[in-house]
Parts: sequence; structure tokens; C-alpha cells
Amino acid sequence: MARAFLLILILAACSGCLTVIDNPQVMVDGRSLYERECLACHMSNGGGVPGMAPPLVGSPWVAGGRDALVGYVLTGGFSPQVLMSRFDFLSDQDMSVLLTYVRKTFGENGTTISTDQVARIRSEINTLN
Ligand code: HEC
Repeated sequence: MARAFLLILILAACSGCLTVIDNPQVMVDGRSLYERECLACHMSNGGGVPGMAPPLVGSPWVAGGRDALVGYVLTGGFSPQVLMSRFDFLSDQDMSVLLTYVRKTFGENGTTISTDQVARIRSEINTLN
């Protein structure tokens, strides 16, 4: 009984690692994009800086719907205020890798974001502008 429980614990703890092991290159590339573009404000552990940038860990934008996260980061928060810059200069490929890293590392469910999804949201935002 105790042994079965332990096995379940190990499997549960490892389901995240397995996804990461599935996509080692995405995680490596995503991390370096994150370090280049986001780390200065949101910190390497996603904890943010009090009074300056909110944490990504526990953020509903990170763990919630993928479309919303893509839109948020492309536009810098859907807001005319300049609190966070727009990241629409990143290619669809870079954005998908970066946000997949962010979701897997700081989000709760860690599903991937595809290049097509970024392209679709980008064109919807362009239509709105
Ligand atoms: C210059 C500092 C800065 C950089 C660089 C930056 N952010 Fe932000 N980010 C902010 C600030 C400030 C907010 C809060 C904006 C607001 O509340 O309107 C924010 C908010 C967010 C949020 C919403 C969090 C929440 O729960 O409210 C997400 C998600 C996010 N940033 C992701 C990113 C990603 C991904 C990158 C890299 C591509 C990035 N940020 C780069 C400053 C930054």
C-alpha cells in the first residue's frame, strides 16, 4: 500500500519532467529567449519584483488560456499604458518557444503553444488595430 502510494507520488511528480524531456530543445531555446527578453523584470524563477513586475508563477495569464497569454505578451498587456513593452517584434516561432517555456516552467498545466496559434492571434490583433 505504502509502496503503491509512493509510486503514484513519483509518477505525479514526474509527469512534468517527462513533457520537458520530450522537448529538450524547446526548453533550452525557450529559456534563453526568456533570459534575454523577460528575466530583467520577472526574474529567472518567475517571482517578479515587488512594486515593479508581477510574478509569473501563480499568474492567471500564464496558467490560463493560451490565446490570452499570447495576446498579452504580443501587446504588452492589452493596455496603452507603458508598463510592459510589446513583444510583437518576436517571430511566431520564437514566441511559441518562449511561451511554451513560460507555461511549462511557471504555469500549472504547461501545455505547449504552437507557431500557428501565435500567427492567428497576431493577425487577430492586427485586425483590431
Ligand atoms: C520592462 C519590464 C518587463 C519585461 C522585460 C517583461 N515584463 Fe511582463 N510585466 C511587466 C509589468 C510591469 C507587468 C504588469 C503590467 C500591468 O499590470 O499592466 C507585466 C505583466 C506580465 C504578465 C501578466 C502577469 C499578471 O499576472 O498580471 C505576463 C504574463 C508577463 N508580464 C509576461 C512577460 C513575458 C513572457 C516577458 C518576456 C517576453 C515579459 N513579461 C517581459 C514588466 C515586464
